[in-house]
Amino acid sequence: MLRDFIKHFKRKKFYHDIIESLIKALEAKDIYTKGHSDRVAKMAEDMCKELEIRGRTREIIHIAAHLHDIGKIGIPDGILNKPGNLSDDEWEKIKLHPTIGHDILGDSKELKEISKIVLHHHERWDGRGYPIGIKGKEIPMGSRIIAICDSIDAMTSKRSYKDAMDWQLCKLEIEKNLSVMFDPAFGKVALKLIPIWSQELKC
Ligand SMILES: [Fe+2]
Ligand SMILES: [Fe+2]
Repeated sequence: MLRDFIKHFKRKKFYHDIIESLIKALEAKDIYTKGHSDRVAKMAEDMCKELEIRGRTREIIHIAAHLHDIGKIGIPDGILNKPGNLSDDEWEKIKLHPTIGHDILGDSKELKEISKIVLHHHERWDGRGYPIGIKGKEIPMGSRIIAICDSIDAMTSKRSYKDAMDWQLCKLEIEKNLSVMFDPAFGKVALKLIPIWSQELKC
């Protein structure tokens, strides 16, 4: 029994280590997202705990959160690290990253759910997101959770072209976008967690 548990634990750790290596490959290329995937994975995990999402579903969401931007590996460095505004054409290329990520992860039985969550992490509750434009609960639950964590980290992180947004302002942005960009129920859970994250995740 204990041996089985240790075997299972080691296997899980092994997968987690491989995932973190993949993310390091992306971060070596995309200097501005250093630590982003880790923070999004931590926030998604906290939201799952709060929502009482357990077991395999929680593990899948956690892994997908680590991998959500892996498709940026396929975006030219010049666009990814461009300090100024992006042209329409460059922006269209950035918007391919969820689809590239989905294709990198593939369609195997084991990875199907993870790649689907990655594919839809930029969809919006109102259907105005990308790459497909699905809305509401058509969007996989994991993608709806990650979309909120992703936006919070993007807002509160410093980039070459912008300062880090104050957590209080970020909270207002999330509030404003309940039922617009974000699942309202999940957004409310994030609002509850923001005071904790503002202490734990400040750069
Ligand atoms: Fe993304
Ligand atoms: Fe992201």
